[in-house]
Amino acid sequence: MADGRIAVIGTGYVGLTSGACLASLGHQVVCGDVDATKVAAMSRGEVPILEPGLDELVQEGLASGNLTFIHGAAAAAAGAKYIFLCLPTPDGGDGRADLRIVHDVVAEIGPILDAGAILVTKSTVPVGTAQDITTTVNRPDVAVVSNPEFLQEGTAVRNFMNPDRIVVGSTDRSAAVAVAELYAPLRAPAVVTSPESSELIKYAANAFLAMKLSFINSIGALAETVGADVAEIANGMGYDERIGPKFLKTGPGWGGSCFPKDTRALATIAADHHVSFPLLEATYTSNDDAQDRVADKIRAAAGGSLAGVKIALWGLTFKAGTDDLRDSPALAVARRLAAEGAVLHGYDPAITKDLVAGKDRPDVVVAPDAYTAAVDAAVLVVLTEWPIFAQLDLVKTAGVMAGRIIVDGRNVIDTATAAVAGFSLVPLGRPA
Ligand code: UGA
Repeated sequence: MADGRIAVIGTGYVGLTSGACLASLGHQVVCGDVDATKVAAMSRGEVPILEPGLDELVQEGLASGNLTFIHGAAAAAAGAKYIFLCLPTPDGGDGRADLRIVHDVVAEIGPILDAGAILVTKSTVPVGTAQDITTTVNRPDVAVVSNPEFLQEGTAVRNFMNPDRIVVGSTDRSAAVAVAELYAPLRAPAVVTSPESSELIKYAANAFLAMKLSFINSIGALAETVGADVAEIANGMGYDERIGPKFLKTGPGWGGSCFPKDTRALATIAADHHVSFPLLEATYTSNDDAQDRVADKIRAAAGGSLAGVKIALWGLTFKAGTDDLRDSPALAVARRLAAEGAVLHGYDPAITKDLVAGKDRPDVVVAPDAYTAAVDAAVLVVLTEWPIFAQLDLVKTAGVMAGRIIVDGRNVIDTATAAVAGFSLVPLGRPA
């Protein structure tokens, strides 16, 4: 194992997953957070996020002593060789990532770091941040390495343990290689770059995937009108190794805490540097179109008007396997329906509390099960691809609903089963 203790500052979804996984590789890891209550809970083995496999890793780490939690950034960083910054970089409101938390923490811990310490940025940060941090730290004996993460929510532990690559960027090559070495047991290729390239790799990868999704969603719209099937097209395209089969499933637009924020941030970075990048603009305007199209289908299914119409929503989270509602496409569609007067009842395996209208969401009464959500609904809409939705009893569902129409925004409902239950099924990306 690498010589030297690892500190992880920030125990959000990236920090906690990275900390627990690094501990499971045999490293000594101390995770620090500003939230003392959360630190106490995690020290007792209570994991605050839904992430398959994470709970077990935290228990194992606590039991072996490889993983500990501590209150405060400085307490975690003291004596550590590697300090992973896993801090929030929210949208600052102007399309730029807000780096205040990162800089405050760096200013706090800079003076107490050991000579030879390596600061590692895991947070998604704009190009130039590694250099800015180097300036803030102002210590020639401390290196700064950009090491972006590519974890997906819901499969983060599996992604961490089976990475496609480890990206490390620094002006100090030996520091970058030392950070890559921490992941050596995972046998992934290490991509050693400049800090600027590393920082851009993260934005470019996320924006490219978002663009791929916008592309397939637009192909889906075209497929519907010409009598083609988007799944067949994606299959045919995906065999081309230059394209690949992943991220070609059509849906009600893409969302989550990363793609929308990072696509906009990359557009702002390009604009700030006077580089024309119209594809980014098109990527998110196409996403609005994808959400509009699903809302249009629901209005049509309801007979042309949504005023006072009860709609059942199956799926509220931004994708299956997570309890994250941030920038959920399901809620973006729901907002459009509510704006036209629809009454929304929803069910999601990961959500138990009613949603209250705010900037990013409408009022949704959250039912304890899928059938209760459907009671008296005129239209049933599937918005998140939870596998359970394909197994539900559609005859029972039809029995409680007022209408007999399903708008399947994720293409998870079997056409024949829906027909047997008496439903008309409106799919996405192929003619009904
Ligand atoms: C995304 C990236 O995939 C990760 O590589 C990256 O590390 C992460 O952002 C991040 O920057 O932290 P995540 O936000 O967890 O991961 O979500 P994805 O699994 O990428 O899904 C994003 C959206 O695309 C979801 O709304 C999902 O439903 C949608 N999607 C995905 C589709 O509509 N079709 C697909 O085929 C795949």
